[in-house]
Amino acid sequence: MAKELREISIAEFFEKNRHLMGYQNPTRALLTVVKEAVDNSNDACQEAGILPTIKVWVRQIDTDRFRVVVEDNGPGVIPSKVPNTFAKFLFGSKFHRLMQSRGIFGLGIHGAVLYAQLTTGKPVKVTSSIGEAIHVHELMVDVVRNQPEVISHQVLPNPRGWHGIKIELELVGSYATGRHSIFEYLKRTAIANPYARIVYVGPDGRFEFKRKVNRLPRPPKRMRPHPYGTELGMLRRMLSLSKARNLSAFLQTEFCRIGNRSAQKICKLAGLEPKRRPCDLTPKEVERLHRALQQVKLRGPPADCLSPLGKLLLEGLKKEVRADFYTHVTRPPTVYRGFPFVVEVGLAYGGEISPASACRLYRFANLVPLLYDQGACVLTQAVKEVDWRRYGLSQSKNSLPAGPLMMAIHLASVWIPFVSEGKQAIADYPEILREIKLALQDAGRQLAKFIRRQKRAQRMRMKMSLFERYIPEVASSLAALTGRSRERILNKLKDMVRRGGEVDEGS
Ligand SMILES: Nc1ncnc2c1ncn2[C@@H]1O[C@H](COP(=O)(O)OP(=O)(O)OP(=O)(O)O)[C@@H](O)[C@H]1O
Ligand SMILES: [Mg+2]
Repeated sequence: MAKELREISIAEFFEKNRHLMGYQNPTRALLTVVKEAVDNSNDACQEAGILPTIKVWVRQIDTDRFRVVVEDNGPGVIPSKVPNTFAKFLFGSKFHRLMQSRGIFGLGIHGAVLYAQLTTGKPVKVTSSIGEAIHVHELMVDVVRNQPEVISHQVLPNPRGWHGIKIELELVGSYATGRHSIFEYLKRTAIANPYARIVYVGPDGRFEFKRKVNRLPRPPKRMRPHPYGTELGMLRRMLSLSKARNLSAFLQTEFCRIGNRSAQKICKLAGLEPKRRPCDLTPKEVERLHRALQQVKLRGPPADCLSPLGKLLLEGLKKEVRADFYTHVTRPPTVYRGFPFVVEVGLAYGGEISPASACRLYRFANLVPLLYDQGACVLTQAVKEVDWRRYGLSQSKNSLPAGPLMMAIHLASVWIPFVSEGKQAIADYPEILREIKLALQDAGRQLAKFIRRQKRAQRMRMKMSLFERYIPEVASSLAALTGRSRERILNKLKDMVRRGGEVDEGS
């Protein structure tokens, strides 16, 4: 065995485990390729402050072969960095920072390139410009070394100053319609990103999701780690890498929410001199410092690193379906493992929504729609754990509520804890589960009020129609008893019933 010991390249690992990135079957693979490219385009445009225009072409070139092209108007990538950016696993700009973004790992687009190369043997073609010359690269991943292989490189003039990325891939796939389709993914992306213009040309036609808002949301800010979520090993590494001259400065520069006073308090609690050099601390002292960091009273992390959807979630639902009732809840920001997060819920009820089946659930993580692995996701789990019967809906044990209900849940965080690299389901951290349930219960209470009012009005309408049926007879009897005009009595009774109904319905 010892003779066989050797390092494994990350590209080799994912070549064998491509299912971890969402490439377990041809239908999902085709969607994943489009998704990774579109998510990157949205991230790049938003970070550069550009209103995104994203064009997606999917063309079937053989029974099981597709050509996918995704083009954006983002900032592009510096020419010298293009090979690593698209053909070297774990090369990215988002992993080391704490900021809300769609991508996090530095795997997404590399996975797409590797899948295409594995199934068709073809390189990816990347056309990129930062507004200067246009660079066209054909790239493959050298799987054993996890290094990019440049097959060709061309430099073209750029008279119109185009900037952005155009990525072209050929892969084995299968085209789906319905719940797991590219169209559905793009439609939901447009709901959560109404400032994006998305054009899609696929085997079933051309679709355009128009820009609904002409401004980008407030850009989320980067944050430093919060002391409460910092684990011992992380603290040890931070201490050894810090350039701060003493412990007090280390605490104030490396973490958020620590000022001079809190730094002194932490050092006192840990029994350490604030003037100590961070890298000189012994393992026992690091442990004491870690304990003190958890004990000291500090404000929660700042919320300006998050950019929730707010009312846009509701607007998205309204665009999607015509319902009788809409409601929306955004919870205040809170923390899991030191990472801030916000949960938002939007509900639509009645109207055109089909009452027959289980409710429709739209899941979003940092503005990205999640289409697969619904059963493994904490968002689904939270919906199932809420007792919807209390809010006037029917629900079987451990299932989604039934009825004419559509639900959208969005989790925005600087770090979404996905259960796998495929980024389709979120792990069930208790703090996250609790917040989602609180948001759902809040929305549920508002829905219950509407359902109660609706039922009351329905009962009243039934009562009135019953009463109306007997009005002519009552009017005849009263006319006989009082000797007054039957017509006048009849009109008066009708008027009374109508006014009574109006008062009751509105109450
Ligand atoms: N269209 C684009 N425009 C500009 N930069 C891009 C574009 N696509 C990718 N990049 C850069 O390439 C990097 C790698 O992309 P990749 O999708 O592999 O990882 P990621 O988006 O960082 O994380 P994840 O693995 O979660 O998708 C990104 O971090 C980004 O810096
Ligand atoms: Mg990505």
